[in-house]
Amino acid sequence: MSETRDIAVTVNGKRHEATVPVRVTLADFLRHQLGLTGTHLGCEHGVCGACTVIVDGDAVRSCLMLAVQAEGSTVVTVEGLSSDEALTPLQTAFRKHHALQCGFCTPGMLTTAHALLTDEPDADADRIRSALSGNLCRCTGYIPIVEAVLEARAAYKKSDRS
Ligand code: FES
Ligand code: FES
Repeated sequence: MSETRDIAVTVNGKRHEATVPVRVTLADFLRHQLGLTGTHLGCEHGVCGACTVIVDGDAVRSCLMLAVQAEGSTVVTVEGLSSDEALTPLQTAFRKHHALQCGFCTPGMLTTAHALLTDEPDADADRIRSALSGNLCRCTGYIPIVEAVLEARAAYKKSDRS
């Protein structure tokens, strides 16, 4: 029987207390225990970026972090970036610029871009390319993604959302 630990973690503004096997990744905890399947799993070894979530303000690969390591942390997944009522400026820019096709990489792109623009709303194209360089996309060629993030900057300059 695998060893377990009790953890408390705030995810998308809601506190969760759970018992988790010590070897379960944060990605699997989010997807299987909390049902937050917007966090996608591609490579499961830190290469593709599809599993990126925001932990205490930083973009983190949730396939490389254990759930127990998130004890006491604040986590934001792609589901937590928006309300159900309307698209956020970042989502709107992705739609406008056709920055997604199959959509598999999109949760990781959105969380990575959100963490970047929250910290650096003046990020230029080179900085955006650098920040997104660990997120693989097989469909778009990346140019529309960078254009979308550039356009979304204005909204982050005006707001203090995190
Ligand atoms: S699934 Fe985590 S980096 Fe690919
Ligand atoms: S939109 Fe298909 S992998 Fe990026």
